[in-house]
Amino acid sequence: MAKSDSGGSEPIREDGDELSRERCVDNGKAGVRYDRSKSYRWNYDHPPDLANEQNLATQQDLSIEQVLASEQVSSRQSKDLHRQEDVSVTDESGSRWDFLGIPVASPLGIAAGPLLNSAWCLYYGARGFDVLTYKTVRSSARECYAMPNLVPVKDSTMQGGEASVHRSDRMGGSWAVSFGMPSSSPEVWRRDVEFARANLRSDQVLSVSIVGTQQDGWGLSELADDYAQCAFWAAQSGADVIEANFSCPNVTTCDGQLYQNPDQSKLVASEIRRRIGAVPLVIKIGFQPDFQSATELIRSLDNVVDGLSMTNSLASRVTDFDGSFLFGGEHRGICGDAIFQASRDQVSRFSKAVAEVGSSIKLIGVGGIRTTEQVRSYLSAGASACHLATSIMTDPEIGFRLSSSLRTSA
Ligand SMILES: Cc1cc2nc3c(=O)[nH]c(=O)nc-3n(C[C@H](O)[C@H](O)[C@H](O)COP(=O)(O)O)c2cc1C
Repeated sequence: MAKSDSGGSEPIREDGDELSRERCVDNGKAGVRYDRSKSYRWNYDHPPDLANEQNLATQQDLSIEQVLASEQVSSRQSKDLHRQEDVSVTDESGSRWDFLGIPVASPLGIAAGPLLNSAWCLYYGARGFDVLTYKTVRSSARECYAMPNLVPVKDSTMQGGEASVHRSDRMGGSWAVSFGMPSSSPEVWRRDVEFARANLRSDQVLSVSIVGTQQDGWGLSELADDYAQCAFWAAQSGADVIEANFSCPNVTTCDGQLYQNPDQSKLVASEIRRRIGAVPLVIKIGFQPDFQSATELIRSLDNVVDGLSMTNSLASRVTDFDGSFLFGGEHRGICGDAIFQASRDQVSRFSKAVAEVGSSIKLIGVGGIRTTEQVRSYLSAGASACHLATSIMTDPEIGFRLSSSLRTSA
């Protein structure tokens, strides 16, 4: 057992299924990943070393290496060369994909969470993903919850509404997520978003996830202002898309569950829209099993937002090995394999709701994706894009495999 290094006193397990940054291969899965035995802050400060990674890649890719050496190109030109390589292996007939009207090479993206800052965005941007979502930021700095922040749970398929799920002694494909949406200060993240946008390829999309921060004595309009201020700053820093998080199962204030109230959702989304103009706007929502409620939400947000991203996670309490509750008995968001079916079914439900309303809102499928079949399943359920979180953290090279497999089986 080890002590948390985030100041929290809760002991954390050393499960033996985590990789150190030095050991980069686990069960044949290569790549540097988030180290859940260490704090959020540590992972924020120790992103993968992209330059080193590129060096490793170029050792296996003499064509780029030779060109760089012979032409002495600048780093900007070097990036363009990588892009040409990437493009040469993408769909030669021209991409049929777009993300909210922006042409992209595939329907694959990374959901809000794993990309803690620009360095993480650039690392995964070099790994087969076309839409990168910068982890949710706020209008003021906020610390992360105490460790453990990621607790593996049993992979049993969830339906939503489970009273509890059980902790697992090793990471299969599902975990309870407990970060509490930490944020650096706006001064820091605004500069960092700008850096991320400037250094991603021009054919990649940077989406920035934002959330309002409820303060004592605030009503909905103050909260809406706070959401809109963050969205405005993100857009000003170069975000191609804004994603507003209307659902966080780990946060009990009203900003956590806004999506469950269509009128409040409309008010906040409209204020964001007013501040960001034509920048594409996505709302991230949680579990909604009821078709009527789904339809009301679509009706409220129609002509205000461009997309809905779902499902944030399924909320549940988590029991420890001895049967006691973790996280003080509070709910946490369960992510990964366990939520695939319920999230995919939700996309199908919302797709019918979109059709019923006659809305042009696009759906972004999120939840438990790690195979090509699952991507196809979301697409056939009505998603126009598929975003991943858990699987890219346990298997950083997954984007290469999925994008390649989607191309060859197109
Ligand atoms: C480590 C981690 C951090 C996350 N942080 C956020 C966040 O800051 N904002 C947000 O909207 N969703 C967050 N999520 C939820 C993901 O965006 C996604 O909705 C969820 O993980 C389901 O996808 P998955 O099954 O592929 O993990 C986080 C998820 C993970 C795993």
